[in-house]
Amino acid sequence: MKRRVLSVVGARPNFMKVAPIARALEHFQAHIEHAICHTGQHYDYMMSQAFFEDLELSQPQFFLGVGSGSHAEQTARIMLAFEPVCLEWHPDLVIVVGDVNSTIACTLTAVKLGIETAHVEAGLRSFDRSMPEEINRIATDALCNWLFCTEQSGVENLHREGAQPERVFLVGNTMIDSLLAAMPKIQACSIVRQLGLEPNRYAVVTLHRPSNVDDPVQLAMLLDVLAELARSLPVVFPIHPRTRQNITRFQLEGIVQGTPTLLLIEPERYVRFIALVRSAAFVLTDSGGIQEETTVLGVPCLTLRTSTERPSTIEYGSNMLVPPERQRIWAAIEQMLQTPPATRGIPPLWDGHAAKRIARIIAEHILHVA
Ligand code: UD1
Repeated sequence: MKRRVLSVVGARPNFMKVAPIARALEHFQAHIEHAICHTGQHYDYMMSQAFFEDLELSQPQFFLGVGSGSHAEQTARIMLAFEPVCLEWHPDLVIVVGDVNSTIACTLTAVKLGIETAHVEAGLRSFDRSMPEEINRIATDALCNWLFCTEQSGVENLHREGAQPERVFLVGNTMIDSLLAAMPKIQACSIVRQLGLEPNRYAVVTLHRPSNVDDPVQLAMLLDVLAELARSLPVVFPIHPRTRQNITRFQLEGIVQGTPTLLLIEPERYVRFIALVRSAAFVLTDSGGIQEETTVLGVPCLTLRTSTERPSTIEYGSNMLVPPERQRIWAAIEQMLQTPPATRGIPPLWDGHAAKRIARIIAEHILHVA
């Protein structure tokens, strides 16, 4: 009988991490049956379905449709909906990725049913417990049986926290597998021209962290900086639904209206977004994944946070941490325009083959079918 592997996706950054694993597991399809469970944490077309299309990810076999809510509501709803899936389908292994609420909710559910669990992107730590993702990361890693790391810092953090070394694997970055696999489509994409921009003559912005967008004073300050920046360089800002809602709720539209070179656009689908980033002069973001994508694309990235769980993007890549305060942001932009951060290369194993390593470890060490 085939062994069963169930991968969980929920929110936008999960789709790029699972797509290459799904493809790599096809190599073992004589022995492994793989299915995808989508929790429905993200549900807008541009936050979810468009990514399945761009990444050529097959439709999920299970869709839980949980939607938004407070952390407790969302996590609890995912657990309630995921338990019957596990009881009916009997996976031998559940794979969770990243650090979103779907990650911890499905880990907790599977572990309590005695199902083996593997965490992809294990060990990353910002050491900032006010971030909901940090809580999800710590709890998920403490519970999962198998831990796949994207970078050396993850391995070291897990060892320090007492993980068994034979269960920790440095495999590389499946998000970068997706980026490199999509490169022909990214290179062919004409979004820059369509938006009337010139390559290397615009900045891309993304903001969605609660610490930056849930506080009206902080969000107003950031929008003000963007409006001012747009007077000297066009700024493209694909807006996350959370940020869009808060701009309306806090009545901050006035700050962003009236500057035609500050382009507020809807969230972009995967290929178009990466194409936009690839030709940008620089990126301003508070995202986790974009720090990694800019590192591989060699595009300077100013991360508007006080900490990063991805230190290799600073050590090797083009990432710079900038505390999200007005003066600090301006100083960083000026410094970066004068001397862009030197890129020393790409972190080890970010080579487009991470998912193949994961699939092989699953087949050989975890399920013993190859
Ligand atoms: C979630 C993750 C975050 C990740 C981000 C990527 C957690 C705790 N946070 O944050 O780590 O970086 O996804 O985008 O899991 N909404 C929509 N349509 C959607 C999804 C959300 O309108 O498809 C709105 C809802 O009003 C919701 C809000 O956005 O309340 C926030 O969504 P939620 O899933 O709670 O967290 P994100 O901020 O997206």
